Amino acid sequence: MEKKRIAFVGTGGRALSFIEPVATTYRDNNEIVGLCDLSPARMAYYNGLLAGDLGYHVVPAFTADRYDEMLRTTKPDTVFVCTKDSTHDDYIIRALKAGCDVITEKPLTTDAAKCRAILDAQRATGKRVRVAFNYRWAPFRTKVKELIATGVIGRVRSVNLEYLLDTNHGADYFRRWHASAAESGTLLVHKSTHHFDLVNWWLDAIPAQVFAYGDLVFYGKKNAIARGDEALTKYPRYTGHPEAKDDPFRLDLDESEPFRKIYRAGEADSGYIRDRNVFREGIDIHDQMSLNVRYRTGEVLTYSLTCYSPREGMRVCFNGDRGRIEYHEFIGTHMNRAVRPKDFQLDVKPGAEAEGEWIKVFPHFKPSYVVPMPPATGAHGGADEILNRSFYAKDAPATDQWGRFAGHEQGAASILVGLAGVESIKRNVPVNITDLVPLRPEATRLSQLV
Ligand SMILES: NC(=O)c1ccc[n+]([C@@H]2O[C@H](COP(=O)([O-])OP(=O)(O)OC[C@H]3O[C@@H](n4cnc5c(N)ncnc54)[C@H](O)[C@@H]3O)[C@@H](O)[C@H]2O)c1
Repeated sequence: MEKKRIAFVGTGGRALSFIEPVATTYRDNNEIVGLCDLSPARMAYYNGLLAGDLGYHVVPAFTADRYDEMLRTTKPDTVFVCTKDSTHDDYIIRALKAGCDVITEKPLTTDAAKCRAILDAQRATGKRVRVAFNYRWAPFRTKVKELIATGVIGRVRSVNLEYLLDTNHGADYFRRWHASAAESGTLLVHKSTHHFDLVNWWLDAIPAQVFAYGDLVFYGKKNAIARGDEALTKYPRYTGHPEAKDDPFRLDLDESEPFRKIYRAGEADSGYIRDRNVFREGIDIHDQMSLNVRYRTGEVLTYSLTCYSPREGMRVCFNGDRGRIEYHEFIGTHMNRAVRPKDFQLDVKPGAEAEGEWIKVFPHFKPSYVVPMPPATGAHGGADEILNRSFYAKDAPATDQWGRFAGHEQGAASILVGLAGVESIKRNVPVNITDLVPLRPEATRLSQLV
């Protein structure tokens, strides 16, 4: 059997979740043909793992300026894009034009012009784009989909989703490129794309209009000084600054091997500093956002994202015309640091303890009940493992009972809620999604989009 040839662009913290399964579980029918990144040091770390602990072999490594050469010489069937968000479009489009299929990490991209360019390139080439929305594949969230799709609470009319990022994982976005709107599209795109995708998919609905507020109230120098925390603003980064030793926001890149080898060692060749002070000047994203979204089919979403909470997780409530579902998910906190799935563990931080997940159904005029579920295990609540099977397994089905495959149009439907939110915050008006990117005007259901 001919193996599927896969090249990876972006070898930071996340890529290991997709590279390791190819090198181990799925090596019989897949082959890693190339790695590409800005940083030779980061690629060397991956090659060390591949040839060492993973029992694979070294694969050709190409610096970012040699991406086209990688496509030409290694002839991948699929390119897996796992770079910084604002660069996804460029790598997706060049891969499509070279005749490759693409799997991209979320978010599809970071602004409307880039989104239109991706949709155009896909249309022109006919190649396949998949978005790695791992949230959909976690068993609890799939169960919520099943309950709604089978009409357990009738037709859903409104949803309330509150997402909390804590002062561990949430703060981490303010140390890195995510704190720059030009690089991440803001957290309404980078992070909330997961949440908007879940709601689009749970409801099988296409978002139409967004109104939003957003502010930076906690991170950044000005906010720390106003709270009386000026002492926390005195160093540009944490590693190598002993005066930061008691700072609860401190991240020491020397604390773990992956942090040392992919980030500390890669500073000189890529300029990427992973542990910048979260109370510095120049942060231009929000840390508190709230939105109302109306869907083409009339449902309404009330959404909020808070990035400085003592605890991490989400509460989602669905109001249907035959009852209500409440879904609680507080599964602990974890920062992305290129750990192998077998080494994955939640960070132990006070206040962020895992409480687990539960789904409760409240039918009209009947007693409520908790939906029985097996315990969730593994990275991202078990989602990564199931998602990887769908990418790489020989016998992976071409369709999915719960519609968990997401293509470029569904990827766009999710980021467009965030992009419309950003626009609404700027202009203080409701924003129509079709004014940003016109998704198939005749479609009423998400499942009608690729
Ligand atoms: N679904 C999830 O649960 C999840 C979790 C983490 C990250 N992600 C996504 O994965 C992607 C990578 O995130 P990460 O946490 O690994 O970030 P990271 O900062 O650890 O790694 C980003 C990598 O991109 C590389 N890069 C930046 N600009 C580049 C360019 N122009 N050309 C080539 N390489 C470039 C950097 O050198 C770095 O190696 C992001 O799109 C992020 O949104 C998804």
